[in-house]
Amino acid sequence: MTTTNPGGTAHSAPAEISDEELRGLVGRLALEDKVRLIVGEDFWSLPELPQIGLRKLRMSDGPVGVRGVLWDERDTSLLFPSPTAQAAAWDPEVARRVGFLMGAQARDKDIHVLLAPTVNMHRTPLGGRHFECYSEDPLLTSRIGVGFVEGVQSAGVAATIKHYVANDSENERMTYDSRVGERALREVYLAPFEAAVREARVWLIMSAYNSVNGATMTENAPLQNDVLKGEWGFDGVVVSDWMAVRSTEAASLGGTDIAMPGPNDLWGDALVEAVREGRVDESVLDDKVTRILRLAARVGVLGDTAPRGDVTTPDTADAEIRAIAAKAMVLLENRDAALPIDPAAVRRVALIGPNAVRLSSQGGGSAHVNPDHVVAIPQGLRNALGPNVELTVREGAFTHRALPDLPLDASVDPATGEPGLGIEFGAVDGTSLGADHRLGSNLVFWPGTMPEGATSITARARITPTVDGTHLLDVRGLGSFDLTVDGATQSFQLDSESGDIIEALLRPPIKRFEVAAKAGVPVEVEARYSADQAMVFASMGLGWAKPRLADDEELAQAVADAAAADVAVVVVGTTDDIESEGFDRADLRLPGRTNELVTAVAAANPNTIVVVNAGSPVLMPWRNDVAAVLWAWLPGQEGGAAIGDVLTGAVEPGGRMPTTYPADEADVPVLSTEVVDGGHVYAEGPNIGYRLWARQGAVPAYPFGYGLGYTDWAYEGLSVDGDAATGLTVEATVANTGARDGREVVQVYLEPVSGELFGAPEPIRLIGFAAVEAAAGGKAVARIAVDAATLARWDEAAGGWATTPGAYRVGVGRNVGDLRLSTEVSL
Ligand code: BGC
Repeated sequence: MTTTNPGGTAHSAPAEISDEELRGLVGRLALEDKVRLIVGEDFWSLPELPQIGLRKLRMSDGPVGVRGVLWDERDTSLLFPSPTAQAAAWDPEVARRVGFLMGAQARDKDIHVLLAPTVNMHRTPLGGRHFECYSEDPLLTSRIGVGFVEGVQSAGVAATIKHYVANDSENERMTYDSRVGERALREVYLAPFEAAVREARVWLIMSAYNSVNGATMTENAPLQNDVLKGEWGFDGVVVSDWMAVRSTEAASLGGTDIAMPGPNDLWGDALVEAVREGRVDESVLDDKVTRILRLAARVGVLGDTAPRGDVTTPDTADAEIRAIAAKAMVLLENRDAALPIDPAAVRRVALIGPNAVRLSSQGGGSAHVNPDHVVAIPQGLRNALGPNVELTVREGAFTHRALPDLPLDASVDPATGEPGLGIEFGAVDGTSLGADHRLGSNLVFWPGTMPEGATSITARARITPTVDGTHLLDVRGLGSFDLTVDGATQSFQLDSESGDIIEALLRPPIKRFEVAAKAGVPVEVEARYSADQAMVFASMGLGWAKPRLADDEELAQAVADAAAADVAVVVVGTTDDIESEGFDRADLRLPGRTNELVTAVAAANPNTIVVVNAGSPVLMPWRNDVAAVLWAWLPGQEGGAAIGDVLTGAVEPGGRMPTTYPADEADVPVLSTEVVDGGHVYAEGPNIGYRLWARQGAVPAYPFGYGLGYTDWAYEGLSVDGDAATGLTVEATVANTGARDGREVVQVYLEPVSGELFGAPEPIRLIGFAAVEAAAGGKAVARIAVDAATLARWDEAAGGWATTPGAYRVGVGRNVGDLRLSTEVSL
């Protein structure tokens, strides 16, 4: 069979090998080989077994791009907008295309398994990986997740839906127990996984670090064996989260198929012994190996199977990422049509803000990739405004914990004179184990990526300042350091308080130094990191910044810039060490003096437009005092260009909020991520997000589904047909009443007229949506099919899905708080 994917590349369907053939291959393996295969050979791959024609199978993170098996700025990846942005497009086709493009790049990088998407829920806005998940709504998460998985797998690459399950916050993530009732599990937390298995036929699932209802997920037989593999018929592979396998018998019997990474002693000889002693039946291993071989055939690394079709990254990828980033942005406020900016009507624009100068193109943690380029906001806006508009640029407030990496235009490797820096690995006796030239000064090494026996890494750079004054230098890492600047050495120790290895590596402690320097006079910097024993992991970074004004002066200067301009664009937001993995955010405040900056700029210029560069909710206390607010997400590699497109109106910000955005922390129904008595009690049951907001009555800053766009819409007609058995067909007619062409996301919600279900209050919920486009003055009809399963609820008493008969209200509109038309149906 040959199909055509949206990129126009022909590909054939995956070669499935029959179960009988797979079992035949398993039968040819010795017990030791079976055990070898179900444990990672290294950090990212499974071993080859030539005796059965199995080649090496490689995995890579993750949800914003395909990093590959290295963390190295020379191994570049397409960097996509954050998954929250992907969801904000409210369009499974967008997710499918993102998935396909990542799959295509995985093919180019010889990666067979992509460790994405992340479909945990936005249970609390403080969750560290909120930016990496899609939404607070299970239906929206499921639709986007299914689109993404289908896209990845259409490129012949396996998707891995993660983290199974109820891994909705980060603090103490290795150990906490999520205590979740059956109805909430089924309707909310398991739902995106079930959709990925049943509809998208996803090839892998990643088992989470945490426990659910008392059993750690890698050992959770009820959820892995019974629900996932039994009830849903999942025929793929359950891979552990990295280092989540913590037992021999319980994890192998509990449904986990692969322990990553390797080696893992608990699944090595200990598992062979457990089988020999009859504690684990060999058939349990055979099932795992069969699943892995099935996966190997699907991705073309078994026998005469080959990776599907001729798939490669299309030349259009950068342009597509730019378009997706722009489409996903959400217009939150727009007083007196302040946006879009007409370049012909302004002479000077003041671009201000910490994130205007240092765009957060992505969040932190294992999702991080090394893009080939990032379009900065000044560059994107300058291009969009054209040559006749003067653009001033100023940080206004310093909110970043780390300094920027060493500047490539001012730093060279002293050994070669090439831009960048030199690094050298050393042995305990001081001998050199090899040198390398690097472009980026944020260095992360996985196991197996350093010379064997290395106990030190020395980074050397010659930095030539372009101005006189006190420059800033920082050193990041974990352990003992000797820093030599122009011959003077200081020794110090950097320690992390975090017990989370990912946090310790990717958000290491930092020490900052002042360096008095003169323009044109090179500064020699040498930073040596040393460990007591041969290193397994390492991370080390160097940062550098030009002389800065004092904070008050910087802010005053930004205000002066704003006052002298026709329009002030203030870009504020988070950083990749605020939104990251391994820890949650402490609060929802913007960092440092950001709010003070926005307020002061808005007071100086009534045409103040705020662009928020964040992947998760932040409080915007000034949101009613500025001319416009545009939510730009963590927009990926084309961020600056996409922001320029939207601010000047070349593209409509067509996104809608995939989660409720609070005005105040006190209003958030589930906020804390603090682990109490070893766990989190999901006391709200299935009433996540807007469902709980509705019950509690507080008014959010922006409700679920909210977004303005650049035109106006009237809802003119609604028809609903169908019943509980067939599902519903909803048709809504919308008219574009504004002056420009636009896109509307028509949303359909359901609630029982009685307000109750199963004898308890039942809130409204999303049951469908569709994005439509219409020209100015034109109309569009949104046709939304709601299948019977979407109408059903989990009946805890009966232990199954059912639609409770009764009268229901179907409402359609622009967001959960703005339903324009409704009708009653009997189900
Ligand atoms: C994360 C996973 C990731 C894995 C490999 C873990 O710490 O939770 O999402 O895929 O590391 O980097």
